[in-house]
Amino acid sequence: MTDGIEGKVVVVTGAGSGIGAATARRLAAGGAKLVLAGRGAARLEQVAASIAADGGTVVWMAADVATRAGPAGLVDLAQERFGRLDVLVSNAGVAPIGPFDDLAVDDWDRMIDINLRGVLYGIAAALPVFRRQTSGHFVTVISTAGLRIVPGMGVYAATKNAVRTVMEGLRQESRGDFRVTGISPGFVRTDLAASMSDPGVMAGMQARMAEIGLDADAVARSIAFAIAEPDGVDIGDLVIRPTVQD
Ligand SMILES: NC(=O)c1ccc[n+]([C@@H]2O[C@H](COP(=O)([O-])OP(=O)(O)OC[C@H]3O[C@@H](n4cnc5c(N)ncnc54)[C@H](OP(=O)(O)O)[C@@H]3O)[C@@H](O)[C@H]2O)c1
Repeated sequence: MTDGIEGKVVVVTGAGSGIGAATARRLAAGGAKLVLAGRGAARLEQVAASIAADGGTVVWMAADVATRAGPAGLVDLAQERFGRLDVLVSNAGVAPIGPFDDLAVDDWDRMIDINLRGVLYGIAAALPVFRRQTSGHFVTVISTAGLRIVPGMGVYAATKNAVRTVMEGLRQESRGDFRVTGISPGFVRTDLAASMSDPGVMAGMQARMAEIGLDADAVARSIAFAIAEPDGVDIGDLVIRPTVQD
């Protein structure tokens, strides 16, 4: 595959909002062919329509990454519509954070299912395609939450650190067939707080995001940078924080 972004076929999960939507817009502007995914059709349709109105090439599909069929369907769609898959941006995630004392076991399950299993199901779907093509790129949105552990974020950080480990293991097995990039944002102004179950935690997080959060395009630029590098160059891990974040 040629270097750069132009012509690359990219699946973006969680593309209906926040970092995923910003990434889709930035990659479309660079000439990528996009497959957008999330659970809610309305927001995906809106993002896809605005990209198409700007001349971009885009399809979308409602898909739940926490099921094996979700990412598999996205990889199939990319190949059916565009003939190949160059990049899987595994960005979908939730953060129903809170102290362990809440015993919010359903929320723990949700984070494991979406943040960790969702990434693994993406790997299961895309890896055989990347091996066959002897090219491809896994770009996964992780978090600074795993780099600095703070109270209330234990399970969320655990899912993100599990993903960090998975990505490094995957990179070591690439044998040069594909690239692996982990993107770890700090505070970014997005809808992520909407996935939080505790109203107090949600309000605190929304206030912090409004106060210091980066624009989602700051993360999208780093994703675009990693994708645009030549095939032989693997950008391993990028951390993107607001300058004022501890
Ligand atoms: N914002 C931050 O400060 C921050 C910091 C570090 C890391 N991150 C990470 O960045 C990623 C993107 O989050 P964001 O901040 O942009 O928040 P966001 O606006 O809430 O985006 C998350 C997206 O994931 C989708 N999603 C959730 N569950 C899904 C599922 N099971 N299957 C498919 N799609 C699903 C959501 O759409 P539907 O609900 O329609 O499915 C939503 O569009 C997440 O992995 C998050 O952990 C965010």
